Amino acid sequence: MMPSSGDDGSHGAAADAAAAMDRMYRFQTTIYDLTRKPYLLGRDPLVAALAPPPDGTVLEIACGTGRNLIAAARLFPHARFFGVDVSSVMLARAERSIRRAGLSDRIRVAQCDAVTFDPLETFGLACFDRVFVSYALSMIPPWREALERAIAVTASDGRLAVVDFGDHARQPAWLAPVLMRWLALFDVRPRAGLVEAAEDLAARTLRPLDVSAPWKGYVLSLDFGPVDDRAVMPPSR
Ligand SMILES: C[S@@+](CC[C@H](N)C(=O)[O-])C[C@H]1O[C@@H](n2cnc3c(N)ncnc32)[C@H](O)[C@@H]1O
Repeated sequence: MMPSSGDDGSHGAAADAAAAMDRMYRFQTTIYDLTRKPYLLGRDPLVAALAPPPDGTVLEIACGTGRNLIAAARLFPHARFFGVDVSSVMLARAERSIRRAGLSDRIRVAQCDAVTFDPLETFGLACFDRVFVSYALSMIPPWREALERAIAVTASDGRLAVVDFGDHARQPAWLAPVLMRWLALFDVRPRAGLVEAAEDLAARTLRPLDVSAPWKGYVLSLDFGPVDDRAVMPPSR
């Protein structure tokens, strides 16, 4: 049974998500990293920009095969890494890759739903210095709740980074509909309201938000900064 699931129906939803993702990825885990490399753009720049503090903690929500966590652990040898994913087949792959990379002492992964997970229960940590979500909100139907959960487990002086499919605004007009149809075959649905939801969340949590859309809008990249306490201080006279 997956940990961090409540009695309010969230366990059922998490179990459904786990079953759906296991069905989706059952025959893909061995080819996943190779086949996704050309089109899940923006992951490596996100990883390179994590720059956790000395002895810091980094969490990837929906970590899949662990390729981002492994890359990050190699780049930042002083930090500890954690990953959650709802799919047991993806996690089995992640655990194998982490072991092969010799990083089992620095990367821990666990089966959890992005909406309901409790990192204190799972890893003994309530929040992390860096949290990131890479190409997963487009696969999580309650993506708004997952985004709220991600910010809730980001330390107040920490950062949350999100990378996902963008709106393709500066791509040729024919490309977006073709891409959307192809992505839908994999249950991937780029979230039209993601920027607005992120702006709302940033305003409510007093965090600066940096939004960028590289590769002509193919990618959407969000970076929530540390809580800015000055935003609640009354103006000085
Ligand atoms: C496209 S893959 C991305 C994997 C990885 N983040 C990367 O960048 O390569 C999406 C991942 O989201 C996971 N996922 C989907 N729904 C989830 C949920 N509700 N909770 C946690 N993980 C979920 C899937 O199992 C899958 O591993």
